[in-house]
Amino acid sequence: MKQEIMTISKQRQLAPRIFEMTLTGELVNEMRTPGQFLHLRVPQNAFLLRRPISINHIDAEKKECRIIYRVEGEGTRIFSEMTVGDPIDVMGPLGNGFRYHHLNQGDTAFIVGGGIGVPPLYELSKRLTQQGVHVIHFLGFASKDVMYYEEEFRALGDTRIATDDGSAGLQGNVGNLLLAAEQTPAAVFACGNNGLLKTTAQLFEDLPDVQLSMEARMACGMGACYACVCHTKDDEQGTKSVKVCDEGPVFQARKVVI
Ligand SMILES: Cc1cc2nc3c(=O)[nH]c(=O)nc-3n(C[C@H](O)[C@H](O)[C@H](O)COP(=O)(O)OP(=O)(O)OC[C@H]3O[C@@H](n4cnc5c(N)ncnc54)[C@H](O)[C@@H]3O)c2cc1C
Ligand code: FES
Repeated sequence: MKQEIMTISKQRQLAPRIFEMTLTGELVNEMRTPGQFLHLRVPQNAFLLRRPISINHIDAEKKECRIIYRVEGEGTRIFSEMTVGDPIDVMGPLGNGFRYHHLNQGDTAFIVGGGIGVPPLYELSKRLTQQGVHVIHFLGFASKDVMYYEEEFRALGDTRIATDDGSAGLQGNVGNLLLAAEQTPAAVFACGNNGLLKTTAQLFEDLPDVQLSMEARMACGMGACYACVCHTKDDEQGTKSVKVCDEGPVFQARKVVI
């Protein structure tokens, strides 16, 4: 993990409250694993805690990476008002990302994402596709208005969409899309809210490789403060935990309590 003042080289709005920010800097050389995240400093002294945002795309040649974020509170609102050329203090890459090297050419991987959990799955899908893995994307959004990256995912492989209100794709959630899938995948990768993660874990409980990217409130982002713990399944007392920031954010579904 390193720290750098990176430069915003592009910022564009993808949907209401959803922005894509491109960052340029040497730190990109450190970014190797999809599913890792960056810890971004809000450029005002009143904000002590950094904001964790997943890496969406890595372009080592151009020394560029992208993040996609939704404006939730003050920190992300300030990010959305920053413009090209602005410096931004970035720590990272942090955490353990998705493991995918063991998959073979011709294997099928299910990539399951919902809402603002979709961004890190894009870099993962690129890597899997480059490796000859057949990817099927199952993406859920609240409605057509807040959908983004549909074309980008379609360019990589089969992409199935669900919206809560039925304004695009199947009406319902990602669970409904997964229930309709006819293949049995070699691995499943998911990122989204806890409902999506729980459904995915339940539907594939017999599959040995189901990787879930967990979210937790974070402070230090590097394993020192224990703000981000989640409980593990191997402990009946419910006292054993793992830290999402440095042991995760990606865990095998059989390991963690969602
Ligand atoms: C590993 C990881 C990856 C993430 N990736 C993305 C992403 O790619 N795109 C995206 O839009 N969001 C992502 N998030 C959620 C994002 O961190 C929060 O939406 C953001 O920190 C909110 O900050 P704020 O100042 O706008 O909101 P506020 O509500 O003002 O935040 C107050 C505090 O709570 C923390 N916080 C608030 N919501 C969350 C949350 N859901 N998870 C963790 N900390 C939170 C903030 O970091 C801050 O310290 C990710 C979270 C984690 C843990
Ligand atoms: S945020 Fe401090 S230990 Fe995870």
